[in-house]
Amino acid sequence: MAKILVTGGTGYIGSHTVVELQQAGYEVVIIDNLSNSNINVLDGIERISGIRPDFIEGDVTDIETLRKLFKAHPGIKGIINFAASKAVNESVQKPLLYYRNNLVSLLNLLELMPEFGVEGIVFSSSCTVYGEPDRNPIDESAPIKVATSPYGNTKQISEEIITDTIYSGAPIKSIILRYFNPVGAHPSAEIGELPLGVPQNLIPYLTQTAAGIRKELTVFGNDYNTPDGSCIRDFIDVTDLAKAHVIAMRRMLDNPDGDKLEIFNLGTGRGLSVLELIESFERATGVKVPHKIGPRREGDIEKIWAEPSKANNVLGWKAEMDIDDTMRNAWRWQQKIAAKTK
Ligand code: UD1
Repeated sequence: MAKILVTGGTGYIGSHTVVELQQAGYEVVIIDNLSNSNINVLDGIERISGIRPDFIEGDVTDIETLRKLFKAHPGIKGIINFAASKAVNESVQKPLLYYRNNLVSLLNLLELMPEFGVEGIVFSSSCTVYGEPDRNPIDESAPIKVATSPYGNTKQISEEIITDTIYSGAPIKSIILRYFNPVGAHPSAEIGELPLGVPQNLIPYLTQTAAGIRKELTVFGNDYNTPDGSCIRDFIDVTDLAKAHVIAMRRMLDNPDGDKLEIFNLGTGRGLSVLELIESFERATGVKVPHKIGPRREGDIEKIWAEPSKANNVLGWKAEMDIDDTMRNAWRWQQKIAAKTK
């Protein structure tokens, strides 16, 4: 089976995707600078799949590091590019860091792919490219809106860079995946999300509150134009999401005459409000989450959920996990990391 380079492979979505690739028979090489992940993630991966992936500690923004990697690991056929910064607020404070990390890394990979015979790249994009949608569910033909943060802008620019490169006739293929809100953890509780410091995203804040690490969760706004007034998102289980990457990779590598560039939404097709998600967590785990209503968070989108039909019909992929099971997995993972850090 083909050899795949996973950049950012010790991160949250990266680690889950490495496991799924290995279980599908792919050989995996990871490069990660460990800026937002831990080397112990490799142990978790190995405990699930029985295989320790090759690991290079390094930065994808350094083209010489990458060149060395491709020379030392000949025969890499595909890349999945997770190595990127992703905190919306931080990107507003440190735009240059975000443009450098997220764009230079992509430029380096695209530049080296033809040189080393790498055939395809799966790119992690985000539903953030749609901004506040005019209608929901939203499909891939919806207009791209002006980005509201440097982070969001890096995703838009990255999509343009990939598109221009493919249209220029470069001998590579790409599948761009627009994620909605990835949540949960591997059912084995061996890997999951490891936020550094105070979590910015809903689920890690929620599970840390349930664990007593945070006093209470603030729901950012209950005066939105939604049934219960809180924002609506499409929460997609991280293992479901990871599986889509394996299918996308197979599609690129196994169909030499297939499309050179494709874009897919990865979501469940179901919108859930922040308050409904809290309810789901409490129902699934029996644990109460102390929470209060606070003011709106600046820059938040009111409601967005995916029309995933294209991924369902063309990729043959469908989100399968029940949200309560996803919440149980998130909780088991939180309990495990809390036990470790005590
Ligand atoms: C954001 C980005 C998305 C990015 C993702 C991961 C935008 C518009 N969205 O998603 O592109 O991929 O982060 O970093 O840029 N909430 C609370 N209390 C909290 C935390 C969150 O009520 O303590 C609410 C938010 O107001 C929001 C929902 O929960 O309505 C989800 O928030 P979050 O998990 O931060 O993800 P997004 O903002 O949707």
